Amino acid sequence: MKPLSKIVIFLLLISALFVQSPAQFANKPQSFVIANDWRFKTTGIYYSDKYLMGVLKAIDKAGKGDFMISCGDVSPVDASRELISEILGKDYLWYTAPGNHDQEDTTYMRLFRNMNPDGGTLPHIVRKGPKGCEETTYAIEIGDCHIAFLNIYFDGKSDIGTDGDIIPELLEWLEEDLKNNRKPFTFVVAHEPIIAIPDMDNGRIRHQGDSLDKYYRNALRFQKILKKYSVTAYLNGHTHCTSITKINGVWQIDAGHAYGVDDPYPEFLFEELSECVAKGSTSGKSAEQMIADYFYQDSYSVKKVLFYTNLTEGVSYKKIADEPALKLTIRFYNDFKGNLQLRQKYIDTFNQNLDVNQSTFLKIFLEKPAVKIEVYRNDSKGGPYRLMHTEFLK
Ligand SMILES: [Fe+2]
Repeated sequence: MKPLSKIVIFLLLISALFVQSPAQFANKPQSFVIANDWRFKTTGIYYSDKYLMGVLKAIDKAGKGDFMISCGDVSPVDASRELISEILGKDYLWYTAPGNHDQEDTTYMRLFRNMNPDGGTLPHIVRKGPKGCEETTYAIEIGDCHIAFLNIYFDGKSDIGTDGDIIPELLEWLEEDLKNNRKPFTFVVAHEPIIAIPDMDNGRIRHQGDSLDKYYRNALRFQKILKKYSVTAYLNGHTHCTSITKINGVWQIDAGHAYGVDDPYPEFLFEELSECVAKGSTSGKSAEQMIADYFYQDSYSVKKVLFYTNLTEGVSYKKIADEPALKLTIRFYNDFKGNLQLRQKYIDTFNQNLDVNQSTFLKIFLEKPAVKIEVYRNDSKGGPYRLMHTEFLK
């Protein structure tokens, strides 16, 4: 062989080494993380270990794998990306499908599209979405897996046009994508489950009948395509309830939520209010002023505590107006502080009324013969994350 040919072969071998993903060199199975539905719990008062930051630190401790997948409801995505970069590194790969709450604000969706301008900007993209949702539907390939992210709010023209459905145009795109896939592990990611399943620990169920099953014919066609192309698993969020279920031959993995503290509970709300009141006393602000400041930062969560402690007399937290809710918040604070019996009553009533879901993240290991899933959860009150379940997709 001529010396020049030897050099060319040597260079080809070297370049072949560099185009493979690092995971292929590792002497361990490829792995990735799933975490989603943390909504806006990233900045301001949520820049704390009680919320997403604590989840990300737990992910770092458990091993962050090759990348992270989110199944939506993670807006604003720029703030989420920033926090992920801070805790898991700026080069750590993160991909997400949009959720229903990401559609609620035009700014949120603009940020979503900006993550992936023209549909081909994110690393490892192998296919853009259909016209009209090029940026928010796409497929990636990393190591041994092919992953298709679907925007289920695409109506054929607009990427914010439905309330969660697999319309024929989206299904057609997915089938074409799966038909051409040659990777041994395939995942499809979208926000809503095909059908909502009770949480694997507390049995709570949410969004039954108004997930993809609301449009059941389209949901069935979707399920059949996943089965036809032997998709390893369908990944979703939305319900805040974690489950791993085989539905007529297709694995559906609902990753629950990664809020950290999901719903504030009485002790938590009192602790937060007490901190605010203490800050106010040093700056000359009254307790009531400080409670009002706290209330208006996240009145929805405060109203939930009031509702589940039976303080709103049956008026839903979604309906009660700010003014009466603020008065009740002040009453709650004073009762909790000054009356131990009432304090215990509020705690007991809340716990009877609401079984709070634990904050969760999953680790997926692409092992043969069966993919392994580790489910990490906290105690729903901001405590440490523990490995709670190990399941295999058999
Ligand atoms: Fe959702």
